[in-house]
This record gives sequence, C-alpha cells and structure tokens, in this order.
Amino acid sequence: MASYALAGKKAVITGASGGIGFAIASRFAKEGASVVLAGRTRSKLEQSLARLHETTGEPRGLQIPQSHGIHCLDVGEGKEWEGLVKENKEIDYLVNCAGESQASLLLRTSQEVIQNLLASNLRGVIFGCKTVAKQMAARRRGGCIINISSLLAHKAVIGTSVYAATKAGQLGLTTALSLELAQHGIRVNAVVPGYIETDMTEGLANKELQKKIPLGRFGTASEIADAVAFLAKNEYANNCILNLDGGLSAV
Ligand SMILES: NC(=O)c1ccc[n+]([C@@H]2O[C@H](COP(=O)([O-])OP(=O)(O)OC[C@H]3O[C@@H](n4cnc5c(N)ncnc54)[C@H](OP(=O)(O)O)[C@@H]3O)[C@@H](O)[C@H]2O)c1
Repeated sequence: MASYALAGKKAVITGASGGIGFAIASRFAKEGASVVLAGRTRSKLEQSLARLHETTGEPRGLQIPQSHGIHCLDVGEGKEWEGLVKENKEIDYLVNCAGESQASLLLRTSQEVIQNLLASNLRGVIFGCKTVAKQMAARRRGGCIINISSLLAHKAVIGTSVYAATKAGQLGLTTALSLELAQHGIRVNAVVPGYIETDMTEGLANKELQKKIPLGRFGTASEIADAVAFLAKNEYANNCILNLDGGLSAV
C-alpha cells in the first residue's frame, strides 16, 4: 500500500501555477495532503488545479479524504494574506514559492521594477510567514514554513542584483524565524535551487551554462519538490538551508 506521510495535512503553496510550485503541490497531494494552490492569476490556478486532479488521481488506500483548492492573491499585499488565512483555517505547511526574476543591470532598472521584485520576492514572503505563523501559533499544533530562495543569493550573476538581494533576504528571514517561531513548534527552512528547468529559465539552458554546472545539467522541478517534502516531514529540520544546484555553488 502507498504511504501517505502527509495525509490529513493542509499545505498552502504560493506560485503554484509555476513550474516549481506546481511540482511541490503535486508532490504534497501525492503524499496525501490537501493543497491550496495560491498565485496571482485565477485562470492559471484553475488550469493547475485541473492538472493536479488529473495527475494525482484518487490515491488508493488513503483513509483521510483530500480537498484541493485555489486561492488568488498578490503575495506582496498584506491584506490579501488576511483573506487567505480567513478562508483556510488549518494550515500545517506554507511553501513560499511565488517569485519573479530579473534580467537587467541595476543602473537600467526602473524603481517600479525594483518595487515589484521586492514586493513579490521578499515583502510577500515576510507577510506570508507573519500571517500564516500567527494562525499556526494560535492553533497550537505547530507547523512548517519552507521558503524557496535561490543560489543567486550567494553567487553573483550580472543583471540579477535586486533578485539576489531578495533571495538573500529570504535566507536571513528563515534563520531569524527558525529561532523566533520554535517556541510555537513552527519550523522554518529554505531550499536554495540553482538553475531549474521552468518558464523562468526558458532560453537559458545553453551548453556554455550547462558546462559550468558540475553535474552538467539544469535541475528539474520535481527534484526541488523532493527536497521540500523532506523538509516538511523531517521533524528535526529547522533552519535547514538545503542547496540543490548540481554543485554549481562549489565552482
Ligand atoms: N527556475 C529556477 O531556475 C529557479 C532557481 C532558483 C530559485 N527559483 C525560485 O523558485 C520560485 C519558482 O520559480 P519558477 O521557476 O517555478 O517560476 P515560474 O514558473 O515563473 O512561476 C512563478 C510563480 O510565481 C507566481 N507569482 C509571481 N509573483 C507573484 C505575486 N506577486 N503574487 C502571487 N504569485 C506570484 C506566478 O503566478 P502568476 O503568473 O499568476 O503571477 C507563478 O505561479 C521562485 O521564487 C524563483 O525565484 C527558481
């Protein structure tokens, strides 16, 4: 019989209409969790929910019924997080995966683009942690938050300065909250992916770049989902910052 390690749990995954977020949502659903797919664009979320039902099917032998849904929000807007926790009362896992990329030199990046990157990639993660952790703490059943950072938090790549700052900020937030929220039984962890095959990296996977990666290839979204599922289930993982970059961080 299949093992449903996350049966009866509820997971909110932001950016769940994107490559990595959807893979995480599918993985949690396959392990028995009820999943809330969160993101900005309703039509994309609806398509993702339909795909989730198609690909995960009806798990056999699962004792606790699952119920998946969508929630439309702009993560950078604090009020929209209040709406999310009102509609979803019993969140066990929050995966902050929503994010936007940057491909511009800082000196040519408009203030508007900078504000948007800060809002989607950093302010949104701070608001998400604050609002969902408050609900988790009040519920007194603990919980786990996993932030999807990036190798670019540590490694310089031209044209990604603001993105890098937001991803480094996520790591600082993760470490600080792993201490602050432990008293409530809430664990806070991060995954630090290198280059992963998704829409965000479309057109980047050229031979030159792949040659620089010790394993010689981009990662897959399901390899990131494996790491997130591990952090969710391992009860001793707190402030665990997991690199998944094919060894690129060593170069
Ligand atoms: N792909 C990589 O190589 C890579 C490497 C390291 C880290 N990461 C990180 O992994 C995460 C997912 O990346 P991905 O490659 O899966 O990207 P993706 O396919 O472009 O998906 C991005 C997702 O984020 C959502 N999103 C963006 N801004 C949002 C906002 N303000 N509010 C709500 N949702 C928002 C998008 O929804 P809408 O389209 O509706 O806005 C979409 O669902 C990101 O945080 C990214 O920085 C990716």
